[in-house]
Amino acid sequence: GRQGDLSGRRVIVTAGGTQEPIDPVRYVGNRSSGKMGYNLATEARDRGAHVILVSGPVALPTPYGVELHQVETAMQMRDAVYNLITDADVLIMSAAVADFRPAHAATQKIKKTGNEVTGQHGKGEFSVHLVPNPDILAELAASLDGGDHAREPHNGIPVPQLKRRLIRVGFAAETEHLIEHARAKLQKKQLDMLVANDVSRSDSGFGTETNKVLIFHANGAMEDLPVMPKTGVAAAIWDRVVPLLG
Ligand code: PMT
Repeated sequence: GRQGDLSGRRVIVTAGGTQEPIDPVRYVGNRSSGKMGYNLATEARDRGAHVILVSGPVALPTPYGVELHQVETAMQMRDAVYNLITDADVLIMSAAVADFRPAHAATQKIKKTGNEVTGQHGKGEFSVHLVPNPDILAELAASLDGGDHAREPHNGIPVPQLKRRLIRVGFAAETEHLIEHARAKLQKKQLDMLVANDVSRSDSGFGTETNKVLIFHANGAMEDLPVMPKTGVAAAIWDRVVPLLG
């Protein structure tokens, strides 16, 4: 039985997509609905874990009995994860973190026809300069390494001092070369497990009720799971995390 197999554990699940502001009314984002992450959170709750859900903006009800931290941007998600991580047993990053953000967010709505107040003229075209966001999982791997590539903290957030071994699980959303990209991410982000979904399938990935995943393990093993409801995928993931806990 799975009943209670996460009792006494603190787990952090990230869910949804981040939104990177262009101006007060527009953002750069992605198609994540949050369903995969919210199912991971409720499944862990049902198995007895203390669940911390770090969520981007989604249209889902807050799961009962889960500690919800709402964020909008990748930088906010990073800060929340780093603040919450010190005494966690598991981190599962199912959030679709925006890889880029606008270099500057305008403080006022950008007008299609220029701004009458400032005299700024619209030219009918508009471009947004994007800069890279930090990669939360890769940065965490580097900082836990303590090696030469341990990065400077962003936003004054210190490198986390973990109280216990943290099991780290990532996702990969790929449209092509799924296996190669997934293995590369597992390696680069030094994960215990990586769940790869083929987002080019209509029954899998962003927004769907079901998901078709491959699970890659740190020892090189790969499992090909059938299409399942995201509730079932969540249960399958926790089934594989539990044995990794000391
Ligand atoms: O929310 P749903 O509609 O249910 O859809 C679920 C999902 C498709 C969003 C989910 O299953 C999924 O695949 N989430 C990860 C999507 C993603 O951003 O993948 P990635 O290949 O870009 O990132 C790889 C891993 O690194 C992910 O665990 C991601 O959370 C993490 N990452 C990515 C970028 C970044 N700047 N920091 C990160 O930590």
